[in-house]
Amino acid sequence: MSKPPCGEPEVSVIVPTLNERDNIRPLYVGLKKSLEGAGLECFEIVFVDDSSTDGTIEEVERLSRSDPRVRLIVRRGEKGLSRAVLEGLRRARGRVAVVMDADLQHPPETVPLLVEKVAGGEADLAVASRYAPGGRVEGWSLVRRIISRGAVLLAWLLIPESRRTRDPVSGFFAVNLERVRPAIVSGRGFKILLEILYTNPYARVVDVPFTFRGRSRGSSKLGPSTILDYLLQVLQLSSIPRFIAVGALGSLVNLAVYTLAFSATGVHPLSSILGFEAGLIHNAILHDRITFRNRSMWRSHSFLRRLAKYHATSAAGIAVGVAASTILYSLAGLHPLLSQALGIGAGFIVNFTLASRYIWR
Ligand code: GDD
Ligand code: MN
Repeated sequence: MSKPPCGEPEVSVIVPTLNERDNIRPLYVGLKKSLEGAGLECFEIVFVDDSSTDGTIEEVERLSRSDPRVRLIVRRGEKGLSRAVLEGLRRARGRVAVVMDADLQHPPETVPLLVEKVAGGEADLAVASRYAPGGRVEGWSLVRRIISRGAVLLAWLLIPESRRTRDPVSGFFAVNLERVRPAIVSGRGFKILLEILYTNPYARVVDVPFTFRGRSRGSSKLGPSTILDYLLQVLQLSSIPRFIAVGALGSLVNLAVYTLAFSATGVHPLSSILGFEAGLIHNAILHDRITFRNRSMWRSHSFLRRLAKYHATSAAGIAVGVAASTILYSLAGLHPLLSQALGIGAGFIVNFTLASRYIWR
């Protein structure tokens, strides 16, 4: 039977590869079978290779001569899983793109399910999840399980955008490219899904459970240094360090404006108000442009509205801070300086929570 002629592919499967020669053909056979079985003949498989030296490139070239739906992108010099996937996503021709590993740990049979969720409009992003009910991991040591769970918990704790899926560090997912921007923030990151969740905070996400199988050919490329990479990536994507930095800078602005105003007018209350106001405006602008940039850039309502709300929530933060400090000092009998420090901490938590939940939400 001859292949039906396909113009533009509907689905692009992006497969990053680094020395995966023996997995290429079995993966291709599995993908072809499951996609065609689901009536998806018009697909492309885009291998994004970072200059493999084991014959992967030649193997993909052989395949693409026999099936034009197979494409190869070879990156010279540059290396890195996230950037390879990003490049594949940017050059994908389908409306729906699926990202998966080459080593068959991601079962090709799950691909049509992911595509269906996204193509049918149920979601903008479908995550193949090991940790959704029904999902599983095969053949992992206890240590690796704990590290993986820890990675998920850390992401959930520090990056609210990641809480839309049970498995934000999965390397297996599908996106609607008309609704999801393939953008990454941290060049270092190799968990590209986390980046996409972060840069697309309003994309609708669903989980599709799957079994992450053991690797049967070739070897894993992710070594111990990827743990450090991951920690740095999470810190870079978390808004908390930026919120703290902006707040610290805002305090300096507050003090500077206060000093200027006081030396010019000699009126303390007026100078104090001006100082606080300047600090507030400074913080609001920087939270908008930096701290919560990934969210505000998708939002159409005006900055002025956020500024007004920020005023209200800052007042709440200050009130809680002063109350906490006073209670700790007068009722609990703590050291005055410690009471004030804890009060500032409480005020900060309130401020951050309100800002992130209600203003730059
Ligand atoms: N182009 C390119 N460049 N591909 C790479 C690179 C790179 O630098 N490093 C790894 N790959 C390819 C591999 O060839 C494979 O197809 C896929 O990326 C995953 O690499 P593995 O080495 O098999 O990773 P893993 O199985 O340990 O980790 C997988 O599961 C994790 C979940 O526990 C990946 O999917 C991770 O992204 C995922 O977080
Ligand atoms: Mn693997």
